[in-house]
Amino acid sequence: MKKSCFFYRKKKYSLVQNGVITKKSPSNIALIKYWGKQKNKIQIPSNSSISYSLEKVYTETRLIYHLREKKKRSIKIFFSGKENTSFLPKILEFFHRISLYCSYLRDFNFVIETKNTFPHSSGIASSASSMSALALCIMEIEKKLVSSLEEDFFLRKASFLARFGSGSACRSIYPGLVVWGGHKSIKGSNNLYAIPYPYKIHPIFTKMGDTILVIDEYPKKILSSKGHQLMIHNPYAKERFKCANKNMDRLISILKMGDLQEFGELIEHEALTLHAMIMTSHPYFLWMKPNTLHVLYKVWDFRKQSKKNIYFTLDAGANVHLLYPIQEIVSIRKWIYSDLFSYCKKIIESFCQ
Ligand code: DP6
Repeated sequence: MKKSCFFYRKKKYSLVQNGVITKKSPSNIALIKYWGKQKNKIQIPSNSSISYSLEKVYTETRLIYHLREKKKRSIKIFFSGKENTSFLPKILEFFHRISLYCSYLRDFNFVIETKNTFPHSSGIASSASSMSALALCIMEIEKKLVSSLEEDFFLRKASFLARFGSGSACRSIYPGLVVWGGHKSIKGSNNLYAIPYPYKIHPIFTKMGDTILVIDEYPKKILSSKGHQLMIHNPYAKERFKCANKNMDRLISILKMGDLQEFGELIEHEALTLHAMIMTSHPYFLWMKPNTLHVLYKVWDFRKQSKKNIYFTLDAGANVHLLYPIQEIVSIRKWIYSDLFSYCKKIIESFCQ
């Protein structure tokens, strides 16, 4: 039996009530990046990835469901209190993709009210936190239908569903370090849903500071869904996927041993490789802005002079995440505000945990 079959809900359940569900889910920052999807498959990654879920940076979603009387389904979305139709195509596609696994959704109309804790238009991708929060709301409906639903299954299926909304969203279901994508060295890892990182983590990595430098508040010109597609014809893609898988092996040993310098070297290399992939795609693109580069050089100089453990990683955009051990938080944050503030539109403080 195919693994995805475990998630089918074909039986006709009758939930004859209307209801409201509220769920929160965090954003995450990948250490080993998911970039590229397998051809002709729905949301299956080309390599395994691992991220930290972020504290304080999350989406809260309220899902209101009403029994449907008319044939045509209605879904309304409100973002920070205002109706927003621009998200509708993505949400409709999501409902369409998951309908096979959640047949009960056909019985309802929905109003989705969502808000983020991070500033509006901060350039921080909210698809991971918003799609995972929505998937958790949907699983709460399923829980009302199937009384024997176990917690493990609840989270696993939520991750499985979130993946159809946005790949990285499947990792946001769990706190801490989370892996998505099958890797030979990680037991239980697979392409269908994420799992909590199952091995030993040195205490230095159980909680890290993450300062997000918002350098560009505006949406990036190439969205990540388009960027993933460009990997299909990127001449360096095959090597990149191999390298990501090797990096995962390296990271397993780093996380166990608590080697901060190796950790920093690995995450910075991963971040720059992700950006190299978009620069070498057709059409090519450059996400970094001049201030992104200023910040990266400043971090390297500061690290050399101060011997502090501060490392950067990047998302699919111009913004920078600075990661450091919480033991060094006071001096590092002081330096960030004195030396980097002028390059940023906003600074968001968070923790990886
Ligand atoms: C650079 O999850 O946003 O953040 O599956 O098309 O929604 P879709 O892509 P998305 O890609 C995230 C890419 C990344 C790296 C990562 O989070 O692993």
